Amino acid sequence: MPLILLLVECGIELIPTKIESHPSIQRNLRKDNYSSKLLDNALHHSAMNKLENFEKRGRPDIVHNCLLNALGSPLNKSGNLKLYIHTYHNKIYEINPVIKLTRNYNRFKGLMAKLLSENELKFEKLQLISQFKGELKDLINKFKKSDIMILSTKGDLIKYQDLLFEKNITSNYIIIIGGFQKGFFSPKILELSKKLISISNYALDAWVVVNKVISLYEIANDIL
Ligand SMILES: C[S@@+](CC[C@H](N)C(=O)[O-])C[C@H]1O[C@@H](n2cnc3c(N)ncnc32)[C@H](O)[C@@H]1O
Repeated sequence: MPLILLLVECGIELIPTKIESHPSIQRNLRKDNYSSKLLDNALHHSAMNKLENFEKRGRPDIVHNCLLNALGSPLNKSGNLKLYIHTYHNKIYEINPVIKLTRNYNRFKGLMAKLLSENELKFEKLQLISQFKGELKDLINKFKKSDIMILSTKGDLIKYQDLLFEKNITSNYIIIIGGFQKGFFSPKILELSKKLISISNYALDAWVVVNKVISLYEIANDIL
């Protein structure tokens, strides 16, 4: 069974119309350039203060790093990873494991802006990213016999990390990781599971957590 990884409440969205006229947005906006349409805290920090939950938003770099780590892993190369991103505005996308994701951050931002506008990414006839039309709970219900864990600094610390995953090919493991910089999961995410797990004494970047979880799963399943 594959590991199912959900990166949730990811800070990727198009620039909200509410702040479009702010000078920091106008300064960077180019009509013919998709990447400039994506909200990015590094460029739009002063405009973002007006947005609700601004600390969780405008961080495409987190998604980029998480995806590069996950897609480049032996787990993904072995065909045993299912990867989804869920955005702050509740859109869900499935990433095709064969996608060759650009390493260039600006091009990645362009790709994400196009995805958010068109809700799919294709290369010739190959669907590289597709939208899952439904809520996170619908997605989770698709996978039968699942062990669902929400990873959080507020969870119970797993001291013996080799026990996080059993070598068990009959059940699905669904791992939920926050794709945001600061703050905590919204109540809707916390409803998805009662199992809140911490894997370190430290607050880690999301991509470090992605890496660690995938490594532990690879070790448990002899994937080298
Ligand atoms: C940068 S953190 C989000 C900020 C939040 N203050 C926190 O520490 O959870 C991004 C995500 O990484 C995961 N994470 C970070 N540190 C973790 C830890 N020690 N144990 C488990 N998950 C962790 C959580 O899923 C979190 O939502």
